[in-house]
Amino acid sequence: MSQVTDSDPNPLDEIGADPFEIARQAAAEIAQATGVAHHDIALTLGSGWGQAADLMGETTATIPAADITGFSKPALAGHPGTLRSVLLPSGERALVIGARTHFYEGHGVRRVVHSVRAAAATGASIMILTNGAGSIRESWTPGTPVLIRDHINLTAASPLEGATFVDLTDLYSARLRSLAREIDASLGEGVYCQFRGPNYETPAEVQMAKAIGGHLVGMSTALEAIAARESGMEVLGMSLVTNFAAGIQTTPLSHEEVLSTGSAAQGRIGALLASIVGKL
Ligand code: HPA
Repeated sequence: MSQVTDSDPNPLDEIGADPFEIARQAAAEIAQATGVAHHDIALTLGSGWGQAADLMGETTATIPAADITGFSKPALAGHPGTLRSVLLPSGERALVIGARTHFYEGHGVRRVVHSVRAAAATGASIMILTNGAGSIRESWTPGTPVLIRDHINLTAASPLEGATFVDLTDLYSARLRSLAREIDASLGEGVYCQFRGPNYETPAEVQMAKAIGGHLVGMSTALEAIAARESGMEVLGMSLVTNFAAGIQTTPLSHEEVLSTGSAAQGRIGALLASIVGKL
């Protein structure tokens, strides 16, 4: 059954649509709605990361993302569905995206990466992507924040269309990772495997991810990071370990567990992320 319904029509789905033109239109609407013509950095806050926005600076505007061209209605509890403009102590502006469209929603990859392309069109040159993830490493217990060093995209999709050859050698900026480690030297680094979801992985799939070099499993981020790089942004990726991946933990996985680990850790990881943003 297709999950795309007429109740949420989107110009990105129209034949002949130009996703970059739609992103520019979205950026103009964000500028209008927030009263801020230019944003310097953008952050997508996944499970557990929401408090960073409050600790980073002063929120001067909050808008429902679904009011902006190309954005989809929020599909998930725990995701606020808002865009916020935050004035940082440095005087710079952060666009905080609390509205993520996941690939598993079935709306296509253009909608998944629209927020990133819109952020780039607002002027943002740094994209911070955060998520909740399952850990393959036994030393990364639930509640541990981890820097994403690289990813393995297991969705069999790409946001790039046509003969768009983009280098991903240093997709997750070494500069931004070392800056994060200046704030917290204990931060580990790992390889994030994006699965399509929405089912959690089987234990055998987790073992495959481990065998091919993965340390974290999740359902977001890799496609967004590729789009951010295409748009010329510098990317910082961070995962909050919300659970051990299937088969590493013997108890069943649940969305409730992901949310409760996220809320238990949110003060700590929010403060960490706010400090990192303060150093950019
Ligand atoms: N797998 C996939 N996505 C996730 C997980 C997981 O174990 N935990 C949080 N998001």
